[in-house]
Amino acid sequence: MKRLTLLCIACAAAVLPLRAQRAGETPEQKTARMAWFDSAKLGIFIHWGIYAVDGVSESWSFYNNYLPYEKYMAQMDGFTAERYDPAAWAKLIKESGAQYTVITSKHHDGVALWDTKASDLSIPRKAAAGKDVLTPFVQEIRRQGLKLGFYYSLLDWSHPDYPNFTRTESRYAVKDDPERWQRFLDFDFAQLRELNGTFKPDLMWFDGDWEQNAETWHSPEIIDLLTSYNKNVIVNSRIQGYGDYGTPEQGVPTVRPADRYWELCYTINDSWGFQHTDLNFKTPQMVLKTFVDCLSMGGNLLLDIGPRADGTIPEEEVAVLQELGRWTRKHKEAVYGTRAGIPAGHVHGYTTLNPAGDILYVYLPYKPVGPVEIKGIVNPVSRVWVVGSGQMLHYKVYNKIDWNEIPGLLEIDVPDHVLDPAMTVIAIQLNGPVKLHRGAGQVITVN
Ligand code: GLC
Repeated sequence: MKRLTLLCIACAAAVLPLRAQRAGETPEQKTARMAWFDSAKLGIFIHWGIYAVDGVSESWSFYNNYLPYEKYMAQMDGFTAERYDPAAWAKLIKESGAQYTVITSKHHDGVALWDTKASDLSIPRKAAAGKDVLTPFVQEIRRQGLKLGFYYSLLDWSHPDYPNFTRTESRYAVKDDPERWQRFLDFDFAQLRELNGTFKPDLMWFDGDWEQNAETWHSPEIIDLLTSYNKNVIVNSRIQGYGDYGTPEQGVPTVRPADRYWELCYTINDSWGFQHTDLNFKTPQMVLKTFVDCLSMGGNLLLDIGPRADGTIPEEEVAVLQELGRWTRKHKEAVYGTRAGIPAGHVHGYTTLNPAGDILYVYLPYKPVGPVEIKGIVNPVSRVWVVGSGQMLHYKVYNKIDWNEIPGLLEIDVPDHVLDPAMTVIAIQLNGPVKLHRGAGQVITVN
């Protein structure tokens, strides 16, 4: 009896949510609050700041002592935003098929894109641009009907009351001067009040939490502050356990992440912000594959662009967003609102399911040679078509033997003329929620 109890505790621990539940919220309420995020699938991340002037890594370049702090800050003079067209940015984001965006309101360097009253360190006060570049973007995003997210770095290596300055230099330790730390917290809270009170974002994307723990950041109070402005605000994981969803970064997951909600943040080349020397751009089709990979594991893709200091967006990035747009428009039924597909091993390709679970979408990242083969689907199939064009496909079941339970092999003909130039999607209508045969085969006993 004792042993059983212990086992049950172990099971319960294994299924405990990774993130603390929001105070006073039931699991059903969380599901409702997360609904738009869960079905949105694609977001566009924007890293825009003075680091684009010399094309150095955002904030890290001075923190890691690659260049002196003064030289880093001198980039203010080159940040002109002279060709900045927020309406064009919002239009491009919308055209990509993304349903939300997350922009760096303030990175670890402490430079705010808006006219913060909490400090002088902002684009309007210190950069050549001399104006608030966040507000016009927010207005255009709202006009396009997109959801709005703000990246906000909790840590601020420029602030005189923040403990850390560079990798080799620190100002003080929190434990030695709690009052000084409190002054920093007041500053962060003031900025968060400005951002959330003025713009009412749908999502807050924190970063830089790793330098302090939840108690030092006052994470629960931050959540209370945000929800006092918007009770439905969604918060990413980087607030020491108090967020709503996981944020794997750069590395595309190879197994389905444990978090119920997650979002891969990902660059198109190898940098978050604009860097003149980084020409390691992925092709549109490579990014599309990663996007579908995320879909197949039930996650979102937050794809980053790094505009130049003048406000233009690199052509390679524009091309990726446009191709995603072409593909998502054509395949929308197999994108928005889908959920994770079936485990690997049934078909060579990515899969998702519709909400009812009775349509299986199969994404073909390669050109098939011969029919596409699917094994282990117990349900009878009622029809198969090409998503986007509606063309019906011929299919046939082979090897369904009457003496065992193993479903046969489903073979679907996918002729060349129905193929999409980047990735074809086929939809398989089943007679009910998908049922899989997961056995390892069977030997005859009676025939
Ligand atoms: C990391 C880096 C930061 C970047 C962010 C994006 O946390 O510190 O430079 O903005 O990832 O996810």
